[in-house]
Amino acid sequence: MAISPETLAELKQKRAHAEAGGGAEKAALRHAKGQLTARERISGLIAEGTFQEFGLHAQHATRHFGMEAKDLPGDGVIAGTGYIEGRPVALFSQDFAVAGGSLGTMHAKKICDVMDYAMRAGMPIVGISDSGGARIQEGVESLSGYGQVFNRNVLASGVVPQIAVIAGSCAGGAAYSPALMDFIIMTKSNASMFICGPEVIRAVTGQVTTMDEIGSAHAHAERSGNIHFVADNDQEALAIVQRLLSFLPSNNMTDPPHYLSQDLTMAEDMGFNDVVPETTKEAFNVKDVIARLCDGADFLEVQESFASNIVIGLGRIGGIVTGIVANQPMVKAGALDIDASDKAARFIRFCNIFNIPLVTLVDVPGFLPGVYQEQHGIIRHGAKMLFAYGAATVPKITVILRKAYGGAFLAMCSRDMGADLVLAWPSAEIAVMGAEGAVQILYRKDLKNAENPVEEAAKRAEDYRQEFASPYLSARRMFVHDVIEPARTKAAVSLALRNLLSKRENRPPKKHGNIPL
Ligand code: HXC
Repeated sequence: MAISPETLAELKQKRAHAEAGGGAEKAALRHAKGQLTARERISGLIAEGTFQEFGLHAQHATRHFGMEAKDLPGDGVIAGTGYIEGRPVALFSQDFAVAGGSLGTMHAKKICDVMDYAMRAGMPIVGISDSGGARIQEGVESLSGYGQVFNRNVLASGVVPQIAVIAGSCAGGAAYSPALMDFIIMTKSNASMFICGPEVIRAVTGQVTTMDEIGSAHAHAERSGNIHFVADNDQEALAIVQRLLSFLPSNNMTDPPHYLSQDLTMAEDMGFNDVVPETTKEAFNVKDVIARLCDGADFLEVQESFASNIVIGLGRIGGIVTGIVANQPMVKAGALDIDASDKAARFIRFCNIFNIPLVTLVDVPGFLPGVYQEQHGIIRHGAKMLFAYGAATVPKITVILRKAYGGAFLAMCSRDMGADLVLAWPSAEIAVMGAEGAVQILYRKDLKNAENPVEEAAKRAEDYRQEFASPYLSARRMFVHDVIEPARTKAAVSLALRNLLSKRENRPPKKHGNIPL
């Protein structure tokens, strides 16, 4: 017997009601603020017609104080799967128009359900946050819901990529779900993320602050380092998600989307030869090197405004998706400090999880000297880089462009830290410490007695560079595999990445290492 027209009409009506969410009036309010609705965010992200929704008809299961009469379409969140560039992703988008996008029992169940599905199927998870936090009327049940989401964030970590978009309010403990994911994208206006807001801070500590100072996108991009990308608006945030996913594998069991059909270009690029200035004191912009290395100069920089003394990001080199870690001599002379170490170490671990080879570009004078650095644990933080590189089993290629001094030489993935290939430019200086410092220690007495100490120190520094810091010395002892003309860098790195695609490395089984946190 065919389904009756009345039954079909009822289904249509129920779907339309749930899909309308908080209604046209609230949608108009969102639009007036320059924001998209929760459903528009999903359709802006995925290919048309590919959305398969989970829990459209879900509503809070029990009656709670103050909510008897409330109708909460979709329970304030839209969840399901869709396709981006031909690959499936799991998504949820909190609907502020329904009870402020607050998280109750069914809301949490919908998020957990789609996360479980993503883990089983091996597809990335994209979560869009826009919520008043725990649904007050559902009390401890909503806290339990958060616990279930957090636990899944942890279970999914290292299995499928997780990307959070903060496109509205993300207050209190709710911020920890994005924080447990791999990348956070935040919109410039209309979004905030904080644990204790300005009122709470003032009440408890007496300190006066503003949301802009503690919870805005730029505060998190530049100061706290909590987020990875800032977007001008919702549309740009969605575009960043798509671009990011274009470099990532769907899960940890597959390779990233390499363009293996692309022919390798073995041609020399003479532009590399002009990057490093004549004098060692002059800085150069390492992003010029990165642009030359990446196919089509296409580089997705991560955490651009945080700890800019190190540059991290994704690109393709000779078609191979690669994670690039590079000292930036333009900022703090490229020295490694606490924030730079944290930033790079987490990125290295991300790349390792998802089978993304690492290319490290080195121009590092050392760890940043300073009381703040010592007292705030540069030893612990710097150790994260050593740990992350040492633990990474993906292909690791290091190119020493100029300085590589002391412990920072090791922290930038030297051969002993497991680099598969180390190349040096003729401008490389590899030694225990910089020439000026070393000369003062080695020849203090001689310099004191010299007729012209400044001239003598400069001369001896030059001698030191030739004698102790020459890349040929490292090459003689096989600490670098080859000293190459910079013009050959892209060809050499591309070739090595292809060679190393089938790299296998076995380590003794263990639960996990104990990275200094
Ligand atoms: C239930 C909520 C809600 C919540 C907002 N609403 N937050 N309902 N539980 N947590 C409802 C409002 O009652 C209102 O319903 C609608 O959502 C829109 O809220 P408004 O306040 O009118 O919007 P706006 O002025 O834009 O302010 C947005 C806001 C504010 C800044 C997010 O609503 C707010 O401060 N909410 C509370 C935030 C918070 O403190 N949450 C708890 C955080 S702690 P009507 O029916 O009028 O449209 C937490 C613990 C998690 O989340 C712990 C995890 C471990």
